[in-house]
Formats: sequence, C-alpha cells, structure tokens
Amino acid sequence: MRNPFTQLGFITIALILLLGCSSTGGKYENSDNTAYLDGEGKRRGLFGGRKKKKSAALQNPNINIRVDPSLARSLTYSRVRTDGPFIAMTFDDGPHPVHTPRLLDILKRRNIRATFFVVGTNARRYPQLIRRIIAEGHEIGNHTVNHKYLNRISVEQARAEVLGCEKAIVAACGVKPRILRPPGGHINDRIKVWLKKEFGYSTIMWAVDPEDWKRPGSDVVARRIISETDPGEIVLAHDIHGPTIAAMPRALDGLLANGYRFVTVSQLIAIERRSIATRSGYDDNLLSSSIHFTGQKQVR
Ligand code: NI
Repeated sequence: MRNPFTQLGFITIALILLLGCSSTGGKYENSDNTAYLDGEGKRRGLFGGRKKKKSAALQNPNINIRVDPSLARSLTYSRVRTDGPFIAMTFDDGPHPVHTPRLLDILKRRNIRATFFVVGTNARRYPQLIRRIIAEGHEIGNHTVNHKYLNRISVEQARAEVLGCEKAIVAACGVKPRILRPPGGHINDRIKVWLKKEFGYSTIMWAVDPEDWKRPGSDVVARRIISETDPGEIVLAHDIHGPTIAAMPRALDGLLANGYRFVTVSQLIAIERRSIATRSGYDDNLLSSSIHFTGQKQVR
C-alpha cells in the first residue's frame, strides 16, 4: 500500500464499487435525484441506500416457497397450521402515493415480502406503485374497485367490483391476483363460495387486527402487532395511514427479534399444504431450535 500507484488503484476500485452499489438500487429510489424522507424519518442522500442497509440489523432470510394458487384448498384463510415461525403481513386500501413507497423502503431494508390488498381506483391512479410492489417480490390481492361491502350489493355490482379491481391490477403489472380480501371484512359463506367458483379467489381474512385505522398511535399499533401475533397468522394493517407506517420499523423488528419469518399470503397457504403433507419438509434452517417465540397473544 506504500506504492502511490497501488493506493490509487485501490481508491479507484473502491469508487467504482461505491457508484455501482448506489445505482443498482436506484430504479425507484431517488429517481428524481432529490433527497427525501424515508419511512423512519431519516433524510436520504445519494448514498442513502448503502447507509441504510448497514444500519438494518435484523433481516428476514430469503425464503423460497413455490406458490401454486390452485392448491389453496380452503375457501378462506385467517391463519394456517404450520410448524414454522411463518407469518404474513398484509396492507389494505392502497396504494398511497406517499405512504406506500415509505412502507416499501422499510420492507426492502428487512428483506420482507408482504401482501397488498389494493383498491382498484388506487391501482388505476398509481400503476407505477403496483409495478413496484410486484417488482420487489410482494403479492397483490384484490380489495374491490371502490371498497364496497360485498354483502350489501347485488351480484352484478359485486361482479363489477371484483373484476374491475382485477383488471386494474392486471393492466398495471400483468399479474392476475388469486386472493381477495373483502372490504371491511364484510362477507358471508355464500359469497366466499361464489368468489372461489366464479373467479378462483380464496377469501383472505386476518388473525391479528391492531385496529390501526382507529389511529391509536404508532406505539400502540406496534405493541399490538408484536404481542398478538402467533405462528401461521395473517396480520392486518393499512398502508394509507402515516402512523401505521411509522409503527412498522418497530413492529417488524420486534417480530424478527422474536424469531418470526415473513412470507406472502400465498406462500403461507403453500406452507400449510406442505406442512400437512410431510409434517416438516423444510430444507432450510428455519425450524432450528434457535428460533423462539416470546410473543404472547393477548385476549382483548
Ligand atoms: Ni379496506
């Protein structure tokens, strides 16, 4: 390193690596070349992406689970039986032009894949966000066009609501959704059968509801999610509320620290099938005894 030419060489290589890293993640980040606030309130600059990666201590492992929607046997899911620490975070009612990108940044830092039940009108308005959600490995589900309660409208109206949202999603990203969450959770068995038979949709409910839409504050939302989530469960939240997004770093890190591993809803469904078929069947280390659960479900 005493040779000045060698030193110069190292500096050049370091610079090339640095620039290379900052440009690979830049497809959606800093596309307008301005610094902006990320989901955790830190101002990001040109090399913000690198700094953020370093500071994220907790990471979801890469989980490769083949999804085959035709094998989703149940009409409806709010949780699955699983021997593993798998859970699915779901976010409804977006995409939102400010909050959804912030959430996507938070998820990306932790290598977490989530599921977004989008409203058709928002999907039409922000197709670039639909594409980003898909490009970053998340799943998109149907949440109707106008957020209509399916049990309070005619079959014709319900069909238009379901197909309209599906069309908006497909037009934006080319991926047809296979899961639907009924707005407000309003549904009955007859409609669930109809959704499965006519459209092939599984109805996705939830096991954990932090009631973030009532805006109890980020602390409460984070605490509820951490304390109420059990293995195999689907967690409900909304990516249209700022305090919900602000709660996510703590909620997600808390769950990761407790040993939970995040998958999409369709992956969770695939895990259940495998788990029943083989009783174990994971070829990775996710079931190692080092994983522990400290989260205790509260009865509210
Ligand atoms: Ni909703």
